[in-house]
Amino acid sequence: MNTLIISSSLSKNSKSFILCNSVANELNSKGANCTIIDSRDIPLRHTHSPISIEMERLSMKIKEADNIIIGMGVHCYSLNDSLKTILDTSFVNAKNKFFGILCSAGGEKSYLSTMHLTQICMNEWRMIQLPRVVYATAKDFNNDAIKSVELTDRIKSFSNEFYLIGSKLLN
Ligand SMILES: Cc1cc2nc3c(=O)[nH]c(=O)nc-3n(C[C@H](O)[C@H](O)[C@H](O)COP(=O)(O)O)c2cc1C
Repeated sequence: MNTLIISSSLSKNSKSFILCNSVANELNSKGANCTIIDSRDIPLRHTHSPISIEMERLSMKIKEADNIIIGMGVHCYSLNDSLKTILDTSFVNAKNKFFGILCSAGGEKSYLSTMHLTQICMNEWRMIQLPRVVYATAKDFNNDAIKSVELTDRIKSFSNEFYLIGSKLLN
């Protein structure tokens, strides 16, 4: 199972990137082949601007992937601007693919923010989402490390279910 994990945050201290790494480790230990895209390495261009070579490469990787996991940070109760740019410019090849969401937020009250991403992926590309989101807040981390047992458990459950369903959906 080839899983593309897209970490969309441009923050140098990104917490959602930590979630992406952690899920990649879990999935790889089960036999998946995960590739992590760190958006901080991609010169992102807005829609209608000439796209960068790195963005073209991302589109190709999305096309080749069996399934996709998206890491997002919550901005203003929604997805962040870099993720919106990636969706608008590079997701045309994501049609019908199985996907999952890993989300980092400042507080506990923004958990419905991931629904905007769900709506976009379902309505625009008929993507099918794992019905479990990993949602973490600042309280779950100690600097760059995951400190909460609950978050570790949620990452394990997410990875187990993503691997189980993702494998079954392979041709
Ligand atoms: C512009 C901006 C808006 C934010 N809006 C929210 C918000 O609405 N709700 C929330 O819980 N946290 C909010 N936050 C906090 C981020 O979600 C939090 O820092 C999270 O860790 C970001 O993910 P990242 O570390 O992967 O970039 C906001 C942060 C920024 C910079």
